[in-house]
Amino acid sequence: MMRAFVETAAAPALDIDGVRSDFPALHQQAHGKPLVYLDNAATTQKPRAVIDAVQGFYERDCANVHRGVHLLSQRATVAYESSRTAIKAHIGAHDSREIVFTRGTTEAINLVAASFARPRIKPGDEILISAMEHHSNIVPWQLLCGETGAKLRVIPIDDQGEIILEEYERLLTDRTRIVGFVHVSNALGTVNPVHKMIELAHDKGIPVLLDGAQAIPHMSIDVQELDCDFYAFSAHKAYGPTGVGVLYGKRSHLLDMVPYQGGGDMILSVTFEETLYNEPPHRFEAGTPNIEGAIGLAAALSYIGELGLDRIANHENALLEEAEHRVAELPGVRLIGQPEHRAGALSFVFDKVHPHDVGTILDTEGIAVRAGHHCAQPLMLRYGVSATVRASFAVYNTHAEIDALVRGLKRVSEVFG
Ligand code: ALA
Repeated sequence: MMRAFVETAAAPALDIDGVRSDFPALHQQAHGKPLVYLDNAATTQKPRAVIDAVQGFYERDCANVHRGVHLLSQRATVAYESSRTAIKAHIGAHDSREIVFTRGTTEAINLVAASFARPRIKPGDEILISAMEHHSNIVPWQLLCGETGAKLRVIPIDDQGEIILEEYERLLTDRTRIVGFVHVSNALGTVNPVHKMIELAHDKGIPVLLDGAQAIPHMSIDVQELDCDFYAFSAHKAYGPTGVGVLYGKRSHLLDMVPYQGGGDMILSVTFEETLYNEPPHRFEAGTPNIEGAIGLAAALSYIGELGLDRIANHENALLEEAEHRVAELPGVRLIGQPEHRAGALSFVFDKVHPHDVGTILDTEGIAVRAGHHCAQPLMLRYGVSATVRASFAVYNTHAEIDALVRGLKRVSEVFG
């Protein structure tokens, strides 16, 4: 069955060989076969531009930020704060002070739970998430519910892997204090109708947090146009370094939020009697930040910008369309989730072979996929499986790699008879 994919504006095609030459790690063998890297939803490979930006920081500008009068510290501070400005521009934020650097999506969500939601939650209040959330958008809310006596409510999804909007509307009540959901599901690839969902929540005055970890490498994000209250993402899923990410928050919210962690840089003044806190975003960035990570993230977003998100989406959508079609035709294979709008990932199971065995056989063919629960165990339960095989795509993947994947999956069937 051919399906609709994310709509994109017409854009000239990318030179994929040229793109691949930007990524040193792609040009290696795995178990004696050319590497076919289809685990991009777990982390992407890094282009030379990102590697050079991180290395350049260490070779020229290595110093702490916001703390030194000397030249290297000034250069490091300018590079770090310029990265914040570049990220603001990339996601269409109004003000660079709305960009908080975090360790990644997980920390960004924990920050919202601890500093925004916790002071506003009373026993009996509700927090609403969806059935397709990553553990990072479940567990922080469970912890908060445990502390406050609030209740976690879950928006159900249908068999296609799509949120049931009528149920969502029904679950938005005067007890709901915050709604948090994925923009793009890491396990199913579903692109959620985020505009509609934000509008419905806002109609009832409920703030919305979007987990954009799997959206940021695949589509243009404009937080002002979305009008989300918070948007979280990680650098490493968008060709940037690990250990760094972003929480975008509307300035009015950030100004109103208590600190997340205490330490250096988040203060204006400290005495043993009293501490005055710094302004956002610094209020939420205690301690020496991941300076090189922020610089690498800005380089990654600049690289994405140069390729063009329309062109990236066109290429990836063509790959996904072909992969979905060909994998679904294989005997004994069942797709998990067939959303109308998909980005990044394709999940499937074999009737008679465990996903870990599939992953292991593919690995011997040089093909890297993820096999497991994808940090989304409640979602696996929804589909009655303990794990899936997930092939996930990036801009550097090719149609020839889909041929290799299909050959590898046929080999799985041969091995298991
Ligand atoms: N969240 C990452 C994934 O989906 C690790 O694989």
